[in-house]
Amino acid sequence: MAALNGAVENGQPDKKVPPLPRPLRNLEVKYTKIFINNEWHKSTSGKKFPTYNPSTLEKICDIEEGDKPDVDNAVEAAKAAFQRGSPWRQMDAPSRGRLLHKLADLLERDRVILATLETMDTGKPFLQAYFIDLEGCIKTLRYYAGWADKIQGRTIPVEKLLVRAVTETEHFGPDENFVCFTRHEPMGVCGAITPWNFPLLMLVWKMAPALCCGNTLVIKPAEQTPLTSLYIGSLIKEVGFPPGVVNIVPGYGPTAGAAISTHDSIDKIAFTGSTKVGKLIKEAASKSNLKRVTLELGGKNPCIVCADADLDLAVECAHQGVFFNQGQCCTAASRVFVEEQIYPEFVKRSVEFAKKRLVGDPFDARTEQGPQIDQKQFDKILELIESGKKEGAKLECGGLAIEDRGLFIKPTVFSEVTDNMRIAKEEIFGPVQPIMKFKSIEEVIRRANSTEYGLTAAVFTKNLDRALTLASALQSGTVWINCHNALYAQAPFGGFKMSGNGRELGEYALAEYTEVKTVTIKLSQKSP
Ligand code: NAI
Ligand code: MG
Repeated sequence: MAALNGAVENGQPDKKVPPLPRPLRNLEVKYTKIFINNEWHKSTSGKKFPTYNPSTLEKICDIEEGDKPDVDNAVEAAKAAFQRGSPWRQMDAPSRGRLLHKLADLLERDRVILATLETMDTGKPFLQAYFIDLEGCIKTLRYYAGWADKIQGRTIPVEKLLVRAVTETEHFGPDENFVCFTRHEPMGVCGAITPWNFPLLMLVWKMAPALCCGNTLVIKPAEQTPLTSLYIGSLIKEVGFPPGVVNIVPGYGPTAGAAISTHDSIDKIAFTGSTKVGKLIKEAASKSNLKRVTLELGGKNPCIVCADADLDLAVECAHQGVFFNQGQCCTAASRVFVEEQIYPEFVKRSVEFAKKRLVGDPFDARTEQGPQIDQKQFDKILELIESGKKEGAKLECGGLAIEDRGLFIKPTVFSEVTDNMRIAKEEIFGPVQPIMKFKSIEEVIRRANSTEYGLTAAVFTKNLDRALTLASALQSGTVWINCHNALYAQAPFGGFKMSGNGRELGEYALAEYTEVKTVTIKLSQKSP
């Protein structure tokens, strides 16, 4: 955290570290309408919906409420922008990369505005929005900007005869030559449905690879947090993306979201959110045009702390791993398994960390934890905390809302948690750390894997054999050894089992946004 605080690095005062960025007070929200064809539109129905600041419970503003007719208009625009001969289709690959770099430049220019909007709309601490969310967006855009002109097919050595002997004719004999190659082409119109926990980052994780591969987009941000996504609309226009390449339709899930997932002219959909809605989206895809689907869903991620681990490191990483972003992370370390010899000490130190965690105004630079996103999530978390108490887990600290302060929940630690308790099985998505005990590696592998989810896992040990045994045995898309939430634009991210399908980020994501075309050419010249 030293770098974040900007004061002391490696124990030495660093005069070159710039002062901390400050949020913009009384920032006016400029973009509240539906963004289609690089223009701002009112909703067809005339309806609007409110978005709130979860730390004050005040309404920030009303947003035009998109529904099926607005999604239809957005899809028409995205289809037209993808037509053969359109400016977007005629643009060469390096130019697409340059547009993405320019978009990253504008995110850097407007970083304080975007971080302020994100904090207003989500309640996440401003410095986290600035240093983590915005940093991730800019790096992801630049990473995919670099890919735009490096998406290459292959030349494939094929046989000389299509089908041997039987089909030999004057034109197809053993001396014919064929050239066969693949093209990695954009898929067409891509839908993106994003969640409220990292509104802008989850949008960029989808938008950057989609655009670098040459697709067009229809985006629906979560109804709780439309502000930064709409601001991006203004930047898309300023950068000079042709009209219709990116369209943004704010609205609710069962209306605007479902209009995207059931649309016959949307070729691919990328979703981050609940497993329940992920299933609905896959079902909608199979009932409509069999659009391709990538899903990034829930997690109940194990964090395994072996007795030989660096305890200071493990306690801090497990703490940040579950409490970061108010616990509202699909990667949350929400099943901590600790080897029995160090269990009491681990619990004691984890409680000290949780009690010190500063909860409060997300615009205050000292704040580590803001409010939960809305009443529904707040109620769900408190209900799960109550279930933990009733089912016999030991409440070490927290366990309550912070009185008179809206949606804030005290950092909560439970010890003596067993695998059958609801807090050990269900995704809590809140500031709650359930800590379990284990005796042997085989036992912890079995228990860690006995969940329907498989998104991430973390392992703390100094023993290389143990680290590699666990890295191979754990059923999850990511395994972190002696770290947590180490996410990079270059490295793929996604889930095993019901944590999702497909991968975002890295080179792997390019396959999720391209179709492979095989081109085979019969040469007129026979081989010498
Ligand atoms: P959700 O899955 O309903 O919301 C995510 C997105 O899906 C939003 O944009 C929403 O409008 C959209 N959506 C909702 N219903 C839809 C439908 N029928 N068709 C198409 N799109 C639809 O998640 P919710 O209800 O906000 O949160 C419930 C739980 O989901 C959380 O407590 C948490 O456990 C999990 N969650 C996981 C996230 C992750 O990062 N994987 C993010 C958000 C929630
Ligand atoms: Mg909001």
